[in-house]
Amino acid sequence: MSIEKEEAVEALVARLAAARKGERGALLPLLHDIQHELGRVDGAAVAAVAAELNLSRAEVHGVVSFYHDFRERPAGRHHVQYCRAESCQSRGGAVIEAALAERLRVAMGETRADGQVTLEPVYCLGLCAIGPNALVDGAPVARIDGTAAIERIAATVAA
Ligand code: FES
Repeated sequence: MSIEKEEAVEALVARLAAARKGERGALLPLLHDIQHELGRVDGAAVAAVAAELNLSRAEVHGVVSFYHDFRERPAGRHHVQYCRAESCQSRGGAVIEAALAERLRVAMGETRADGQVTLEPVYCLGLCAIGPNALVDGAPVARIDGTAAIERIAATVAA
């Protein structure tokens, strides 16, 4: 990362931290603010947050790495979260997952090279009775049981 970009991240974090000055438990809300503004919480942001909140980088990194919502690199334009928990798996989830990844041309846990889509695992969406399930840009998609459902997801991702 260039010095200019690092300074821009520091300035952003300073502005966001100032907005939460005096708030108890400001770390998580501040990290969410940064994720929202930057699309990521990278090393420069971790260092800036540590400085702003008088924490160690290790403390901030520990929180960032614990919560899957925080990412070091921005997600793709579309975000597909596919359920890998037991109920969806028992309904053929692994086979569907492989077909979905192939159709979307992206490996699980990755963002496609053109930045169009990120495919990530999620562990239970609370819709177990109608799985296999996914969230596509935050909207639930249930009964992903074949080509038609996969094509609907692919059409959303292509938009
Ligand atoms: S196991 Fe997939 S939604 Fe619960």
